[in-house]
Amino acid sequence: MPQAGPALAGPDDTRGPCRTLPRSHRRAARRGRDWSHGSAKEEALKTIIEPFRIKTVEPLRMTTPAERRAALAKAEWNLFRIPAEAILIDLLTDSGTGAMSSEQWAGIMRGDESYAGARSWFVFERRVRELTGFRHIIPTHQGRAAERILFSCLGVSGRVVAANTHFDTTRANVEYLGGRAIDIPIAAARRPADEHPFKGNLDLEALEAILGGSEGDVACVIATVTNNSGGGQPASLENLRAASGLCRARGVPFYLDACRFAENAYFIKLREPGQGDRSVESIAREMFSLADGATFSAKKDGLANIGGFLASHDDRLFRLEEELLILTEGFPTYGGLAGRDLEAIAVGLTEVVNEDYLEYRIASVRYLGEGLMRAGFPIVRPPGGHAIYVDSGAFLPHIPPREFPAQALACAFYEEGGIRSVEIGTLMFGGLDPVTREERLAPLELLRLAIPRRVYTQSHMDYVIEVAEEVARRKESLRGFRIVEEAPHLRHFTVRLAPAGGGHGVRGPAKAETVEARDAAAGGSRPAHGATAEAKSAAARTERPGFRGPLPLWERRA
Ligand code: F0G
Repeated sequence: MPQAGPALAGPDDTRGPCRTLPRSHRRAARRGRDWSHGSAKEEALKTIIEPFRIKTVEPLRMTTPAERRAALAKAEWNLFRIPAEAILIDLLTDSGTGAMSSEQWAGIMRGDESYAGARSWFVFERRVRELTGFRHIIPTHQGRAAERILFSCLGVSGRVVAANTHFDTTRANVEYLGGRAIDIPIAAARRPADEHPFKGNLDLEALEAILGGSEGDVACVIATVTNNSGGGQPASLENLRAASGLCRARGVPFYLDACRFAENAYFIKLREPGQGDRSVESIAREMFSLADGATFSAKKDGLANIGGFLASHDDRLFRLEEELLILTEGFPTYGGLAGRDLEAIAVGLTEVVNEDYLEYRIASVRYLGEGLMRAGFPIVRPPGGHAIYVDSGAFLPHIPPREFPAQALACAFYEEGGIRSVEIGTLMFGGLDPVTREERLAPLELLRLAIPRRVYTQSHMDYVIEVAEEVARRKESLRGFRIVEEAPHLRHFTVRLAPAGGGHGVRGPAKAETVEARDAAAGGSRPAHGATAEAKSAAARTERPGFRGPLPLWERRA
């Protein structure tokens, strides 16, 4: 391994985020680009360190390549099916996988488990209200429960929900309830190689058209901060202010999907003119003040392993939401959580706006991004707040989108070094068009390497980069997959795959077989679906009144 130490940058190491640069350039480098305007605090030294020390450790289990190949085959090349014990570095998600602090663990011990009116609820409510300013706060067991309750009570059936980009569970919850989820990110968000400080911005012209009724009645507008499915990119305060103004003028509720609000607020501090001298807490409060409500998964910037909330100012909506909460989640002072979880989240929501933490967090993600770029991987630029997204379609042009190039890369990273990542492409967002019965394609085939908070050190990231270099060396040998069995919603979680072209897995020899030839061999229909699976899937899609079937994440690939 190239380096065993935990420092993110060292004076003599040319691989760190901002080493070797004259001090005058270091701040700009930390912010990534010249569009940085913030005045970060004066630094005495250039090494960005993990601003914590380690009190409890969890051993990692090493595996051999042969074991990993066997695990992949057994899991039918779905990394969600691989037991975590067989993973060395788990970059599947940054959700619920963070390390809690000693203060959070102390909160766990303080947890009050009373059914109603627990002390822990008031601790949680106080911190959430202080940060967000919302009148009504509903605790939920995680983010998607907040989404389900919100969309059920707003009534999205037959209506439109517009967002910079809906996350997969957000889209699925809108569609499950018969609504239409429309993504309106700015154009730069669709071009992975473009550098832009705020690729998470909403396209304001598209928003105006939608609010004007171009797509039908609008139930609500959502700004996902940061924009997870769009590369973990932030939205600017200016954009949020403008979107909020447009929505308020039309009386349409404007919501934040606030899972990564602190990372977004920190990017605003670093990059947005006039924001550099503000605290992250103050920027975050302004972000929330622009919204009529928020959904939140505490598994990300709550620095907790579980939890979430739904918040708003709307009295009438709150009464409906509370009723549904009691029916499906729990009493309003715990909402599906234990008192100890509420305590851990309250502490996490304070720790997450600490700027030493955020500086380390953003630097560690960028460190991985820069390493992958040096290894020859095209990534979504600039590096996101919580993850690096590899443009796998560009990296593996010999694997067609229908054979899931990002999944091929995910399996190769696992096979090479026990690293788990996740496909965010046609496997996640494709699926059968309910009308044409054709497989739809995502516009980008991304592989996401998400970094858990406060868990891995720099040598772990150096190891990931070394594995990436090995994978890059044999990229021509990687092969795609076909679907053996899939569910009608969120299929990527449970899908069963097999190597495309009858190969032996990701290292397997290629058969010169086109998708068309394979389709023809399977009787002219989609080979991935056995007749029964397809019939079942079609039935599931039509059983639910108003359900339109999954829509593509972005627009259809030309
Ligand atoms: N919204 C966004 C932007 C998310 O990233 C997630 C979860 C959710 C909503 C749902 O929250 O998992 O608590 O129900 N994202 C995780 C991920 C799963 O891996 O990106 P949840």
